[in-house]
Amino acid sequence: MTDLALALVRTLKGETLAKPPLWLMRQAGRYLPEYRELRGKSENFLELCYQPQTCVELSMQPIRRFGFDAAIIFSDIMVIPDALGRKVEFREGVGPVLEPIADERDIPSFEAARLADRLAPVWKAVAGLKATRPANVAVIGFAGAPWTIAAYMVEGRGGGEFTKARRWAWRDSASFERLIQALVAATAEHLVKQADAGADAVQIFDSWAGLLGESQFERWVIAPTREVVRRFKAAHPEIPVIGFPRGAGALYRDYASKTGVDAVGLDSTVPLAWARDELQSRVAVQGNFDNQALVAGGAALKTEVTRILDTLGRGPFVFNLGHGVLPETPPEHVAELVGLVRAWKA
Ligand code: CP3
Repeated sequence: MTDLALALVRTLKGETLAKPPLWLMRQAGRYLPEYRELRGKSENFLELCYQPQTCVELSMQPIRRFGFDAAIIFSDIMVIPDALGRKVEFREGVGPVLEPIADERDIPSFEAARLADRLAPVWKAVAGLKATRPANVAVIGFAGAPWTIAAYMVEGRGGGEFTKARRWAWRDSASFERLIQALVAATAEHLVKQADAGADAVQIFDSWAGLLGESQFERWVIAPTREVVRRFKAAHPEIPVIGFPRGAGALYRDYASKTGVDAVGLDSTVPLAWARDELQSRVAVQGNFDNQALVAGGAALKTEVTRILDTLGRGPFVFNLGHGVLPETPPEHVAELVGLVRAWKA
């Protein structure tokens, strides 16, 4: 059951609130001293993701400090490849490093029992967060989209242009499709279980959607996302889904009209008036303050917040960044941002 009184949920379902709700992607993380302190006690980032109590605490840190309207569960999109039995580690300064899928024989299959074995602590963390957060704060569950996860699984790491994955998808689409379908099943299951545990909304992160041209975008972003959303809605028809096809450009329009998501997360390159005219009439929109402007701070912060709110704030709109909070971000800039959004009037 989703809570229809929550500002985030109402907005994602198409209501325009006088005061838009606000949360930030990566609102928990290294820019917060209290995060660095807890993080320092653990060698291994992935292990942290399987400690429900710690995850609840890390999700709550930015809520206490800034009073956001939503708490996203502390986790990572790499728990899916991990739960499918692929080796995943996080290296300092590099990010996630996976044992790359070299050929077809390495493609894992989806097994519900194995997934549950590994991901049960994440679902427990969602339930814990739901029980801990203030009643007016929505709990957001999430997962990586099949394309973005497949890209990491084939490439073994980020940082480049995912050339191996993109070539494989062109060269042998039948086997790539098998990988994508295993991920569709795992992603849908992970999102359903987070909703079972109390998530009020879920977000699908397709961080590398912007690498694909029209036909590949249709096949590897839109089609799998539509199927994930279909399966999710079969279990939880009333829980809103946010899709974040970062970098999709003009293809945001197809994404918004074809996938069945309730809202789209805009990256910072999406023009605001275009988003208002072409997207906001179909779905709620979320975004898209530049995370580098949040590092920089200063007078531009106010001008830009106002520009975003004046253009998108008169329709269903959730204030957010266009990508995650960067580790270099001064927490005072975040506090200032929150003050500006809260003070805005339509
Ligand atoms: O506060 C939140 O938003 C919830 C937690 C969250 C994390 N990762 C925690 C994290 C979320 C929603 C994610 C999503 C995620 N993870 C994405 C999609 C969004 C995006 O940024 O495009 C991706 C691509 C990943 C994979 C990932 N995880 C990378 C590339 C990195 C390394 C880069 C970095 O910032 O360190 C991570 C590590 C990671 N995930 C950290 C956190 C808090 C930092 C780990 C540490 O403390 O050492």
